[in-house]
Amino acid sequence: MPQPRVLSGVQPTGALHLGNWLGAIRNWVDLQDSHDTYVCVVDLHAITVPHDPAKLAADTRSTAALYLACGMDPKRCSIFVQSQIAAHSELCWLLNCVTPLTWLERMTQFKEKSVKQGDNVSVGLLNYPVLMAADILLYDADLVPVGEDQKQHLELARDIAQQRVNARFGSEKQPILNVPKPLILKEGARIMSLTDGRNKMSKSDPNESSRIALLDPPELITKKIKRAKTDSEHGLEFGNPERPETNNLLGLYSILSGQDRQSVASECAEMGWGQFKPLLAEATVAALKPIQILHKELMDNPKEVDLVLKAGRDRAAAVANATLNRVRQVLGLAIRA
Ligand code: TYM
Repeated sequence: MPQPRVLSGVQPTGALHLGNWLGAIRNWVDLQDSHDTYVCVVDLHAITVPHDPAKLAADTRSTAALYLACGMDPKRCSIFVQSQIAAHSELCWLLNCVTPLTWLERMTQFKEKSVKQGDNVSVGLLNYPVLMAADILLYDADLVPVGEDQKQHLELARDIAQQRVNARFGSEKQPILNVPKPLILKEGARIMSLTDGRNKMSKSDPNESSRIALLDPPELITKKIKRAKTDSEHGLEFGNPERPETNNLLGLYSILSGQDRQSVASECAEMGWGQFKPLLAEATVAALKPIQILHKELMDNPKEVDLVLKAGRDRAAAVANATLNRVRQVLGLAIRA
């Protein structure tokens, strides 16, 4: 029996943060042992909003190095750069032609991001979820490990595969595309901002204190946690909807210190912030230290990262091109000589 297939990715925009690690990358690391795992750096998604061309290639390599530093093992998975496999853009176009515009217009992330861009919203931003569907469907992925915020995009990818490709061009016995499932873990799927516990931690928040980047130095991590928004209630508890910041910080402490929520709840029940915040800072610094050390080693030896990306690209391209040909054929496009 072939192993079930996993596909996921992160955009190389700005510094990756705790949300990207705990909501996504950490899960990939566990899955690579039991799944045929493909992870890409989605640089084509990164250009759907204004970006700095001088930084993109370096950020792409640094993001791949972070995958490795977080525990992705090129012997057990394929790591590649999205834009280096043309099949992603081509399948995106083919899927564009069968996806209703109204499906894209109602995407929450598009609505949120386009408000911020005013008159400058690109067609690419609207198209973002179709490119994401192409990323996933090209690999016949069974599972897509992502944070909670990507659920709607995953549903769209499923609908495109099922309703717009399989139902129209395939048959029940012979589906054209595999219909993927999201894998959203309970803990870590929605890490909240340090400055507002009702909003998710995000790379695009202009306030850098709202997030902890995976490469933040220890002093900065400690400072950000010290300044993190709290409340004035006595004692710390999980699950009180009136105390979103407390819930978030305790949840972070549980994951980063490797203790279950019950033991964190009893350890911290009588604590004040002055006692808790240094504990959280210490746990965060300790959890990120091995990642930071390995990332630096890899960035000092970029050729090694590039070799990993080349091998990953070769493996991924073979799978992607086979799927693309299948779709080209059922859409009636001329066969290449
Ligand atoms: P990006 O770069 O915005 O996010 C990458 C991953 O991090 C998760 N994430 C979070 N998880 C928990 N708490 C948070 N605060 C938080 N912020 C981000 C995201 O859910 C995501 O899993 N559109 C994708 C990139 C993509 C993709 C794909 C993913 C493109 N093609 C194919 C899977 C499969 C995204 O959100 O990138």
